[in-house]
Amino acid sequence: MTAPEQAPPRASTAPDGDAATGAPAPAADADGDHSYEIGSPVPADGVDMWRLAVEARTLDANSRYAYVLWCRDFARTSVIARRDDGRAVGYVTGYLRPENGALLIWQVCVDPVARGAGLAGRMLDAVWDQAGAERMETTITPDNASSIRLFTKFAERHDMTIEREDLFGPDLLGDEHEPENLYLIGPIAADKGGNT
Ligand SMILES: CC(C)(COP(=O)(O)OP(=O)(O)OC[C@H]1O[C@@H](n2cnc3c(N)ncnc32)[C@H](O)[C@@H]1OP(=O)(O)O)[C@@H](O)C(=O)NCCC(=O)NCCS
Repeated sequence: MTAPEQAPPRASTAPDGDAATGAPAPAADADGDHSYEIGSPVPADGVDMWRLAVEARTLDANSRYAYVLWCRDFARTSVIARRDDGRAVGYVTGYLRPENGALLIWQVCVDPVARGAGLAGRMLDAVWDQAGAERMETTITPDNASSIRLFTKFAERHDMTIEREDLFGPDLLGDEHEPENLYLIGPIAADKGGNT
C-alpha cells in the first residue's frame, strides 16, 4: 500500500484551470509558497486524517480505524488536501443522510500551517461538487466563529440560504462538550416550502 505521505497527486477541484488542457489549477496558499491538490480520499488517507484531527485538538478525534474505514465507504462525500510536497494539510468528511439525501458535513480540518488561505472553502466546494446533493447540513458549536463563517460564505457563494437550529445539548454530549447547532443550507426557492 502506498504510504499516505507518498500518495500520488489527485485531481484538484480548484475553480480556475489551464484553458489549453482543461486541467484544474491547484489552490495556492496565502503566501504563494505552496499549492494544494484536493481530491477524493483512499483508505491510506485516513491515517493522515486521523493525525490532523488529533493535532487540531479542537476536534473530536475518532479512532484511526474510523478514518480509514470512512475513506473506504464515504470517499465520494469526503476530500483530502495535499500540499505540493505531498503533506496532507486538510480534509472534509461527510455522508449523504439516508433520511433526506442532504450532504452532512461532519468534520472540516485544516492544518494550522495552511489556515487562512481559503483552503477549507475550496475543500467544501470540492466535496459539494463530487457529492451531487441538493442540500448541505452541518453541526457547529457556538464558539467556533471560523466554522460559522466558513459555512455562511459557502451558502453565499452558492446562492443558498443558511438556517440554524438547536440539535444536541449537554444531555447527550455531556457537560464537557459545547452544544452542537444544526446548520441547514439549501436552495432559496426550496427552503420557502420547508425542509424535507
Ligand atoms: C475552521 C477551519 C477548517 C478553517 O480553515 P481555513 O482554511 O483557515 O478557512 P478559510 O481560509 O477557508 O476561511 C473561511 C472563513 O473563515 C474565516 N476565519 C478563519 N479563521 C477565523 C477565525 N479564527 N475567526 C473568525 N473567522 C475566521 C476566514 O476569514 C474566512 O472568511 P472570509 O472568506 O470572509 O475571510 C480551520 O480553522 C480548522 O481546521 N479549525 C480546527 C478544526 C475545526 O474547528 N473545524 C470545524 C468544525 S468541524
